[in-house]
Amino acid sequence: MIKKAVIPAAGYGTRMLPITKAQPKEMVPVVHKPVIQYVVEEAYYSGIKDILIITGKGKRAIEDHFDRSDLPKKDRYLAELDRILEEIDIFFVRQKEQKGLGDAVRYAESFVDDEPFALLLGDTITFPPCTKELIHIHNKYKTPIVAVEEVPMEKVSLYGIIACKKIGGLVYQIEDLIEKPSVDDAPTNLAILGRYILTPDIFDCIQETKPGKDNEIQLTDAMKLLNNRKRMYGYLFRGKRYDIGNKLDWLKANMELALKDEEIGGEIREFIKSMEVYHD
Ligand code: UTP
Repeated sequence: MIKKAVIPAAGYGTRMLPITKAQPKEMVPVVHKPVIQYVVEEAYYSGIKDILIITGKGKRAIEDHFDRSDLPKKDRYLAELDRILEEIDIFFVRQKEQKGLGDAVRYAESFVDDEPFALLLGDTITFPPCTKELIHIHNKYKTPIVAVEEVPMEKVSLYGIIACKKIGGLVYQIEDLIEKPSVDDAPTNLAILGRYILTPDIFDCIQETKPGKDNEIQLTDAMKLLNNRKRMYGYLFRGKRYDIGNKLDWLKANMELALKDEEIGGEIREFIKSMEVYHD
């Protein structure tokens, strides 16, 4: 039973500059809502009521976003958030220095206590909610699970990659984890996508992890240690993952989700068609 979620949202967001000069990358809008709202809603719709968001320097807007609004006239998406806020508790902790994702997760130790927990990166959206699927798999195997997706081989050096053997369906036993390998060193094209179920022994592993790629404490390196101590599984997520950490993928996410949107999808489609006519 997973009751707690941890959402790291303290990173610099340098790849999104200057958009992120004075606002957190997790507050960047995707169609109707800021990214972090999708992430909190994913945790909620996966059955989680206690959420810890790890923030830091320049991230105050995230806390403000999760205050209940007192505006008299409510937008539909604001109303949905207010309704969810009635049912969940959101806690905040500040990462003192931006020393990497592994370091950020360390701040969740006392919140998590001795229970397994869900970890959702604050700059990543998944449809359908990947966390719900991970919880389902965790309930069966009772072991840490990392969601992965297939990426083009030439892009493996942008991701954490797993080496693994298939144990059935979409589930793999992890043999190794490598942060941003070169194409030649990558054992597979299965990339860690930003959704995890972890157990509290990850905190000891983080403690023992030295700075790695980019001189940051890498969560992938800590999970490599965890994998030496206990069985870990990978889960091949068949849904859609949107990475809002870089401009191109952020724009693609907006276009794709706007096209799918029930309110504005039709108009956007017509608009795009009219642009094609114009360019012809
Ligand atoms: P990224 O790897 O995208 O790093 O973080 P970043 O620093 O946010 O962005 P760039 O590379 O400067 O453009 C993945 C997730 O981990 C969080 C981020 O907020 C994001 O949700 N993170 C990263 C932290 O919470 N703390 C850190 O020190 C680094």
